[in-house]
Amino acid sequence: MNARTEPRRSSDDIVRLADYRVPAWWVEAIELTFDLDIEATILHARLHLRRERDEPLRLEGDGLQLLEVRMDGRVLAEADYLLDDAGLTIPGVRDRGVLETRVRIEPASNTALSGLYLSGSRERGFLLTQCEAQGFRHITFFPDRPDVLAKYTVTLRANAARFPVLLAGGDPDGEGDLPDGRHWARFVDPHPKPGYLFALVAGHLEKIERAYRTAEGRDVTLRIWAEADAIGGCDFAMDSLERAMRWDERVYGRNYDLSVFNIVATHDFNMGAMENKGLNIFNAKYLLADPDTTTDDEYRHIEAVVAHEYFHNWSGNRVTCRDWFQLSLKEGFTVFREQSFCADMQSAALQRIDDVAGLRRAQFPEDAGPLAHPVRPSQYRAIDNFYTATVYEKGAELVRMLAGWLGPERFRRGTDLYFSRHDGQAVTIEDFLAALGDANDLDLSPYLAWYAQAGTPCVRARGEYDAASRTFTLHLAQHTPPTPGQPDKQPLPIPVRIALFARDGSRLRLRSIGESVASGNERVLELAHTQQAFVFEGIDTTPVPSLLRGFSAPVTLQCEYAPQDLALLLRHESEGYDRWNAAQQLALRAFDARLLDEIGTPALAAWLEVLSDLFDQDETQLDPALLAELSRPPSEIELGARVESFDPDAVHAAREKIEDALATRLRDRLLPRYGSLHALERGAPDSTAQARRRLKGRVLSLLLRALPWEGGAIALVQFQGAQTMTDRLSALGALTRAKFPEAAQVLRDYRERYDGNALALDKWFTLQAQVPAHAALDAVRALTTDPAYAQGNPNRVQALLGAFARGNPVGFHRPDGAAYRYLADQIARIDAMNPQLGARLAKAFEGWHKLEPKRRAAARSALEGLSKRPDLSRDLDDMLSRMLGDRRD
Ligand code: TRP
Ligand code: ZN
Repeated sequence: MNARTEPRRSSDDIVRLADYRVPAWWVEAIELTFDLDIEATILHARLHLRRERDEPLRLEGDGLQLLEVRMDGRVLAEADYLLDDAGLTIPGVRDRGVLETRVRIEPASNTALSGLYLSGSRERGFLLTQCEAQGFRHITFFPDRPDVLAKYTVTLRANAARFPVLLAGGDPDGEGDLPDGRHWARFVDPHPKPGYLFALVAGHLEKIERAYRTAEGRDVTLRIWAEADAIGGCDFAMDSLERAMRWDERVYGRNYDLSVFNIVATHDFNMGAMENKGLNIFNAKYLLADPDTTTDDEYRHIEAVVAHEYFHNWSGNRVTCRDWFQLSLKEGFTVFREQSFCADMQSAALQRIDDVAGLRRAQFPEDAGPLAHPVRPSQYRAIDNFYTATVYEKGAELVRMLAGWLGPERFRRGTDLYFSRHDGQAVTIEDFLAALGDANDLDLSPYLAWYAQAGTPCVRARGEYDAASRTFTLHLAQHTPPTPGQPDKQPLPIPVRIALFARDGSRLRLRSIGESVASGNERVLELAHTQQAFVFEGIDTTPVPSLLRGFSAPVTLQCEYAPQDLALLLRHESEGYDRWNAAQQLALRAFDARLLDEIGTPALAAWLEVLSDLFDQDETQLDPALLAELSRPPSEIELGARVESFDPDAVHAAREKIEDALATRLRDRLLPRYGSLHALERGAPDSTAQARRRLKGRVLSLLLRALPWEGGAIALVQFQGAQTMTDRLSALGALTRAKFPEAAQVLRDYRERYDGNALALDKWFTLQAQVPAHAALDAVRALTTDPAYAQGNPNRVQALLGAFARGNPVGFHRPDGAAYRYLADQIARIDAMNPQLGARLAKAFEGWHKLEPKRRAAARSALEGLSKRPDLSRDLDDMLSRMLGDRRD
């Protein structure tokens, strides 16, 4: 498998949205017959073709050994077709035809994990496929683009002892024995689909099974498959799947549409999971759960990803993307559906906090850096590099804004029309907006600007109270900074949810100009222009506005709040998210002042004061999980984004001072609170127990600051007696970070206990990679020589190198640049095996241009050195050249 067979940097390797054309050839049906083997798989494909335009037939194919080509049964001579590095061209085909190809594939040497590859060992491992975005061309010659939808019939043949389980997407359609110890199984998918949704799995797998009847009355067998040692960890995922299926029936009216739904877990996977029709494939990390090794956060992620992939069955599979520019059509929408589901399953406030925190941590920096791109990009060189926070998470925010505008009933009417109108089609963002609009007699096309314009809009707000006229005027202005290739920005329609608070914390009833009576205590203002003013009448005191409630738009807000205003919102906002946001803003102010070495700043004082009061509230007054989040300052990445010239050591030190100040202020409350939380610990998985553990972990880390000796002893006891992975890991993390003398021994104990458990060992690698110290690089280097480290395994590489580069600013950005050079070198090695993984790791450099001059120069030279190496993959080359600002558009 070779991503390097395509030319690097030619002027014509950019794909542009504006160049889209309907395919010249359709494939109405495809029959695939695989003779599976680890070293050499032979695939016979029959494509039923229909011409759309008078053009030679062109099929993509990469890394395939072509054995034979037939057209309508006749074997073609080499002179009858043109074979190049990227595919096959056959001139002279008439309006219709049946093309047959036979190819040879080598799954065991496919280290890129795209196409057909081997998971696990040669002796016991199993075969599987990954085709999104462009993996199908590594399996067979095909028009590998999402708008070519075909009906699939797939026959798998293999040695029965080596490959006892044979699976493909669609409905099972027979199985049986063959001579010589071989067997076969056939699958027919009645729903036309693009090649990227094709999947097969073959090998030694165990299953759990559950019967499910859809709301429409279809009987479905749900099956989850895993290797024998992991099958015991699949029950939670099965429960999650059932909850997701019921939810989609209830909330979107969407039912499942095949007789079986399969999920398979693998430890060798580039991404989180994949929604292949009828045969989802999951990174084991997002599927396997058991109380001894899975943290509470991971339980939530598993439920989210299981739901996400299931929801794709409609938002992605039944209605798919016309081209890869429309990726957010399925991903943004599906992330939104997933977030809504999770909010319904547990605390909606916590879900919103996690989602917004994630957006600010990952998407805002992307939108503000050299890799910034619109939710619908207008061009790409390597589509694998566009599975980004912008396409996924900002895309989800755009759908959320639409849903908010329309309200639940109209939004449902819109999605019903979208699914029915476009069932079985490959469509665009415009089609999505048109369906939501048409269902409600609205024109949503102005909204398209959100999809086309990169960069995070900044909304500036200024309030003006006039006691004489009893009016409050809110002046809003918006501005979007330039991004690469988009120097000039236009104003966007921004929904600003607002409430007004009186000094005593009560909410004011709102009456806008022209309204005779107040109609509620919340409004959604629509900021559509560069500047607008909104007037509220009948306001008796200077109010404190709560703006962008619930994070009503993916923007940053600038507003001259006094610290006591933010403190008021932190105390009195009714929504958990908005309380958290007020706490974050206060902490940011405190940070700004700390960085300038201002002691005793009013923002810090206000933050400490409110938090210490909140720590006096008990569980019946304040959700412990919410308290944990309210008391957590923003990440170093987010803090770093506030300064012109990022010095990670200075930012870390300032954040440490803030944490220390909080620990000191809460000192007397920490031990008792910890004690009561610990006394309630039963190791239960329910959300009340999870909320308590979240707070317990937070209190423990503060304890280690306030009372290092007691804190350390407590952490040690917690580690040794832990009933959950959450407790074990938070204790281990606290001890490791605080460089407690026992840390080394405790790490060894953990290592021994989980020897051979891949997911638990990943966490062990991550913990050590994230100790905030310049010396972390030495630890990382040493860990790459650990026998459990595997350069070919994405989870392990991400757990060590990814966690270090993205989650340890102090370590990665050490001033001598050694970590930059080290990572660049590792990326080059990894790229030679797995371009997607190499490119994703390289993204850790995306903020290099904001570093202080010395580090900036070092990072730049590491990046330039890497970009000059020969034989880089297209994925990595694209990532590096965009980060270095080399845009050739
Ligand atoms: N479509 C997958 C999702 O649910 C993403 C994905 C899985 C993917 N594997 C991939 C994307 C490989 C690119 C390459 O989000
Ligand atoms: Zn997805």
